[in-house]
Amino acid sequence: MRIDRFLSNLPRFNRQQVRLLLAERRIQVDGQPVNDPRHDVREFSRVECDGQLLQAGKPARYFMLHKPPGCVSATVDPQHATVLDLLDEPDKGDLHIAGRLDFNTTGLLLLTNDGQWSRRLTQPQTKLPKVYYVETEQEIGPDYAATFSAGLYFAFEDLTTQPADLQVLGPKSARLSIIEGRYHQVKRMFGHFNNKVTRLHRERMGPLALDEQLAPGQYRPLTEAEIRQI
Ligand code: URA
Repeated sequence: MRIDRFLSNLPRFNRQQVRLLLAERRIQVDGQPVNDPRHDVREFSRVECDGQLLQAGKPARYFMLHKPPGCVSATVDPQHATVLDLLDEPDKGDLHIAGRLDFNTTGLLLLTNDGQWSRRLTQPQTKLPKVYYVETEQEIGPDYAATFSAGLYFAFEDLTTQPADLQVLGPKSARLSIIEGRYHQVKRMFGHFNNKVTRLHRERMGPLALDEQLAPGQYRPLTEAEIRQI
C-alpha cells in the first residue's frame, strides 16, 4: 500500500496532515525518512513518525521444503497429513505455499508469509521456469517436444499453455520446464498423449533449486541471497 494511504487510514492523521508529515520528512520507513507519497509500505515494513512507532512490521519468512509423496499441499486437510505438519515453526499458520504440488509429487516446495514474493515466483508473466523430472508409463514419443513447445489447448481454462521445454532423458523419463503452474499441468500435458505420469519431482523454481542436503520431509529457511533472487 502507498505510504500516504497507509497514514491516512490511521485515525490520528487526516490527508492534509499526511501531506505535511511527508513533506517535512517526519515519516520513516525501515529507518529511512520518506517523502514520496507513493512509497510502498508492506506488512513487513517498520513505520515511524518522529521516532514513534506506527507499525512494527512482521518478520518475513521463507522456507524450502523437500516435499515427500503422500502429503497434501495445503495448510489444513481433514484426512491427510499436510506439508505444514512437517514444519516445526511458530505461527506456521501464517505461511502459504508458493506453487502447490500434487499429493504424490515430490520435490521443491516454497512456503512464505510474503504474498508479493510468492506472486513474483508463480505468476506466468515473470516467466520463471519450473523444472520437473518426469517418469511415464509409456515411451515418450519424438513428437512430444514440438507439441509442448507449441503449447497445448486446455479446454477447461480455455487457454493454450505457454511454450514448454522438454528434454528427453530416457525412453520413459524426461525433464520438463514450464513457466506456469496450471492445475495438474504436467500430468495433463503427458495425458494429451495418453501417457500416464508415474513419477513427478520438482527440481527447481526459477533460480531456486532443491537443496540436495534435504531428505524428503526436511526443510530449511531460505538464505538472504536466495530470497533476493526472486
Ligand atoms: N504438474 C502436475 O501435474 N502435478 C504437480 O504436482 C505439479 C505440476
